[in-house]
Amino acid sequence: MTDTVLVTGGAGYVGSHACKEIAAAGFLPVTYDNLERGNDWAVKWGPLEKGDILDRERVASVLEQHKPVAVMHFAAYAYVGESVDEPAMYYRNNVGGALVVLEEMFRVGIDKFILSSTCSTFGVPDVSPIPEDYPQNPVNPYGASKLMVERVLADYASAHDFQSMILRYFNAAGADADGDIGELHKPETHLIPLAIDAALEPDAALTVFGDDYPTPDGTCVRDYVHVTDLATAHISTLKALLDGHRGGSYNLGTGTGTSVLEIIDAVERNSGKRPSYTIGPRRDGDPPELVAECTRIHDEFGWTPKYSDVDTLISTALAWKQKLAPSGA
Ligand SMILES: NC(=O)c1ccc[n+]([C@@H]2O[C@H](COP(=O)([O-])OP(=O)(O)OC[C@H]3O[C@@H](n4cnc5c(N)ncnc54)[C@H](O)[C@@H]3O)[C@@H](O)[C@H]2O)c1
Repeated sequence: MTDTVLVTGGAGYVGSHACKEIAAAGFLPVTYDNLERGNDWAVKWGPLEKGDILDRERVASVLEQHKPVAVMHFAAYAYVGESVDEPAMYYRNNVGGALVVLEEMFRVGIDKFILSSTCSTFGVPDVSPIPEDYPQNPVNPYGASKLMVERVLADYASAHDFQSMILRYFNAAGADADGDIGELHKPETHLIPLAIDAALEPDAALTVFGDDYPTPDGTCVRDYVHVTDLATAHISTLKALLDGHRGGSYNLGTGTGTSVLEIIDAVERNSGKRPSYTIGPRRDGDPPELVAECTRIHDEFGWTPKYSDVDTLISTALAWKQKLAPSGA
């Protein structure tokens, strides 16, 4: 019988790409998602169990029914600005929801967990690239909520025979190279889809938040990592857990920074159209540069990004956008 992996948030952007790789690796991905911010059409490689991670009875019954060998936990709210305006919503969903999943896993006897964490747990670091053991001082409720779950997992590891992998993504980008799935957030807050819209759609406009940072061109520098590369890192760490690895924390990025203006140039290069943009003020809490030191995951599991060069990121996102149009879904 095929081993099952429960994927909370599997109808979302990163979770759906993970489901494709889970299936390719010979497991059955069972998506658990309330579809509040996900899309049922993105659930293609296994069943969808519609439900909320805060619904304890539903979580318990799905765990009992499918008896997964591990849980990959993507379900969360992930907008920094929204988290500043609505902190309780973030702590309830991201921390409270994770606790429900962990408690019910423990009760049912499932002890392997992979967390989608984030570079936002580092706050505004003064080093680049950022190593995993750099002090974590988040500056917004979103990052704080993820760090809280990281701490819960550390305490679970001490108290129980429980193993978890904490994967701190930097900036997820791109789309499935076969065009099966891609990014569709409403509202969209990520730079690459916004820049593509600003190139392709006459009415779409892009604001660049600050051009006076201490970076080579004055705009913020981020470490963009292809969503399929994130997905394969989940498979590497899943297999390690199943082989007896005790778990750990890993940055997922490329080690290379790309500025906002470099992304805009790459969108122009790949689409043949210049995105229209204006320069706006800096946003509070935006660090000038966030780049991952990601040798740990390479050294331990041999993971290397394959699709994360800027032109592949942009061209796959562009192909997905063109496939979506004009329906928008
Ligand atoms: N996208 C990025 O650049 C990025 C970077 C760092 C970390 N992350 C983390 O990765 C994970 C996935 O991010 P994403 O960009 O795919 O987000 P997403 O919004 O596309 O996907 C999240 C999914 O979780 C579901 N969900 C949310 N709350 C739920 C609940 N209470 N019950 C059931 N389902 C629920 C949503 O419906 C959605 O399908 C998140 O945990 C996010 O914090 C993302």
